[in-house]
Amino acid sequence: MTDVNIDWDNLGFDFQPTKTMFVSKCEDGKTWKDVGLVPFGNFEISPAACVLNYGQGIFEGMKALRTKNDEIVLFRPIENGQRFYDSAIRLCMPPYDPARYVERVKEVVKANVEYVPPYGKGALYIRPNMLGTGSMLGVAPAPSYTLFIWVNPVGPYFKGGFNPINLEITKKYHRAAPKGCGAAKTICNYAPSMYAAIEAKKRGFAQILYLDAAKETYIEEVGAANFFAVIDNVLITPRAPKDGSILPGITRKSVLQLAKDKLGMKVEERDVSYEEVFKASEVFCTGTAAVVTPIGSITYEGKEYEYVGGKVGEITQKLYDLLTKIQLLEEPDPYGWVVKVE
Ligand SMILES: Cc1ncc(COP(=O)(O)O)c(C=O)c1O
Repeated sequence: MTDVNIDWDNLGFDFQPTKTMFVSKCEDGKTWKDVGLVPFGNFEISPAACVLNYGQGIFEGMKALRTKNDEIVLFRPIENGQRFYDSAIRLCMPPYDPARYVERVKEVVKANVEYVPPYGKGALYIRPNMLGTGSMLGVAPAPSYTLFIWVNPVGPYFKGGFNPINLEITKKYHRAAPKGCGAAKTICNYAPSMYAAIEAKKRGFAQILYLDAAKETYIEEVGAANFFAVIDNVLITPRAPKDGSILPGITRKSVLQLAKDKLGMKVEERDVSYEEVFKASEVFCTGTAAVVTPIGSITYEGKEYEYVGGKVGEITQKLYDLLTKIQLLEEPDPYGWVVKVE
């Protein structure tokens, strides 16, 4: 099963080279021709590549988990493939068929199976990228593209595992603008967020809680995770606005469904102001990497609002348990969300 030299008990969210990656090329800007599985390693790129000059690149994130019975499973990979497709369209790149994407993802996981952590120790994070690698000078879509899928074993995203994190609301920076590309997973959304995140970390916060860029009133999301609040027993999440400033998270969608179906909760996707959130009984964030991460406090203009006495809230815990048990096939999966890698 796992004979690679990795300290599984101390896995973080750090780069760790693996054995094999998948590569596909689109030389004519239209048709993808798969190169197939190749050893993980560097590749050459023209200094005039569109991605290096103008940021024409997208990515995805997914996890392969090992179950108690030693099966390897993926969570909603077709939805992930669909988002990769949608992101490609947004950046004028040739989209890759989602069903084909899922098959390629499975091949990469199988080729690196020894890097899937033992049950309960973490996950094999799967990172698909599509880049405009063709050379050009003017600002326009690249003439040719490269797609690759690589993997990396990981432990929990937030240090400290399933413990509440502390966030800070800022009006100094925004993540995405209305009518911008926040709803697509483009590489250009992430570099600008680093400065804000580093500043927040220096002040002792795990991440920034971003507000909408137009009115600076409504909660958007947490760096790389979606936001939820429980207010008067209703589960509320900022709507994934049609103007495209919030990433439509797959975990977000799953948590909304589980809260409705399994906890019988009323759920709302709507604008939620930070002032309203200060009155919430529980707050948490969701993502492939973050899973369901409780938020212990939110600080705004130096004032800290604490939730559940800094402990894990009851609804947060229930949703975490429901989601992770379905993901690991420890609870029935009536939705067909879990896909085995066989
Ligand atoms: C900006 C942003 N928001 C939310 C999410 C959570 O989305 P998902 O649940 O699909 O991982 C991610 C991670 O993919 C993200 O990068």
